[in-house]
Amino acid sequence: MKTPIVDFVKNYANSGVTRLHMPGHKGKDFVGFEKFDITEIDGADVLYNASGIIAESQRNATGLFGSEQTLYSTEGSSLCIRAMVHLIKSYALQNGQKPIIAAARNAHKTFVTACAILDLDVDWLLPKSQSVISCVITAELLDEYLQSASQKPTAVYITSPDYLGNLTDIKNLSRVCKKYGVLLVVDNAHGAYLKFLPEDKHPISLGADMCCDSAHKTLPSLTGGAYLHVGKCAPTFLAQNAQSALSLFASTSPSYLIMQSLDAVNRYISDGYCQKLANLIKKVNTTKSNLLKGGYCLCGDEVLKITVCAKSYGYSGYELSQTLLSQKIVCEFCDPDYIVFMLSPENEEDLCKLESALLSVVKKDIIKQHPPTPSIKKRQLSLNQAIYATKEKKNVNDCIGCISASTDVACPPAIPIVLPGEQIDEDAIQCFKYYDIDEWIVVK
Ligand SMILES: Cc1ncc(COP(=O)(O)O)c(C=O)c1O
Repeated sequence: MKTPIVDFVKNYANSGVTRLHMPGHKGKDFVGFEKFDITEIDGADVLYNASGIIAESQRNATGLFGSEQTLYSTEGSSLCIRAMVHLIKSYALQNGQKPIIAAARNAHKTFVTACAILDLDVDWLLPKSQSVISCVITAELLDEYLQSASQKPTAVYITSPDYLGNLTDIKNLSRVCKKYGVLLVVDNAHGAYLKFLPEDKHPISLGADMCCDSAHKTLPSLTGGAYLHVGKCAPTFLAQNAQSALSLFASTSPSYLIMQSLDAVNRYISDGYCQKLANLIKKVNTTKSNLLKGGYCLCGDEVLKITVCAKSYGYSGYELSQTLLSQKIVCEFCDPDYIVFMLSPENEEDLCKLESALLSVVKKDIIKQHPPTPSIKKRQLSLNQAIYATKEKKNVNDCIGCISASTDVACPPAIPIVLPGEQIDEDAIQCFKYYDIDEWIVVK
């Protein structure tokens, strides 16, 4: 596979030209990578008005992901999420609908802030029996919701995989969304690799209209590299307006280092990534099964995450993390209940080290304390009203009855405790305390 952006920048860096243009480092060594850090000079194309090397590279990515259109972001999935929310709103208005999104409650902060800024109403979906672990929306639950909704949403918004490695059944949700003529949009920030599994589990392949992937989370991209994908069966409005939606929120100085990285990822994928992934999965499965035999309890369905339920082994996630740190192993995430390890084929050699480090920890009595159960709170203000309200910071003990104005959206592993505009109740206070949150921003 060709790498037009990498090749262009390499030639430019070695051409000996005098750089009388941005950036101010002029290609001289300060950290070491400056000669490859360029801006939108002649021949370098323009992200979001692409017709040259960037367009060619994005076409390569489109082919690899089997989408209608795949566009690059150098500002993570966060930028793509803002663009997706804007596209949903524009699509609703085009069709004379009131823009409403029905979203699984485990949405990332960027989705919440995007809806707040764009003043969109969200119907939060939270299955009744849910713990903080996950928010898996089943096809039955979605069907029930859409059938009884007094006003149909324009889109259903799902976050899958979540931080703990839980996957939602996108294929069946897509079937339900099609039945009701509603868009299915997925935050697939953690799942770019799903396309390349022996059984393709990427949301676009399973029928989602649109999704974002953080290339940097699971593929070998520099931090910030991400994709906005539009599906082949999605309304043409989405692909036609995706570039301009991204440019509405994006920097006018996109990072060419990150774009080169995304370009190089295309080659990485086409050079045997599927096989590397298949080999890794076998090893991860062996590690998981050895950990289970050794007394650990695991959760989540993702193959590239190992999520340990720490308390069932007698420790908090923090304690296990500290123990591993002393053996120079750094996890992705830990909290009172879980410790999460994220893997890629670049970790093949590390699995044995992780396994023996975990198995060398002495098992203790199960810690029986369970995390609090999340619930949807009473909404007093819209997201938009809450983020623009006058605010004050309060000790959580003084927050009962107050309206949250925090955009921090502290998530226990999967589900935000309270969202802007919602009333803080006793359950929320218990959650704050459980997760060591002492202060919260509320409406004054
Ligand atoms: C579920 C989810 N969505 C979106 C994001 C934002 O992704 P990015 O960091 O690529 O902007 C994250 C980041 O951790 C995430 O976990």
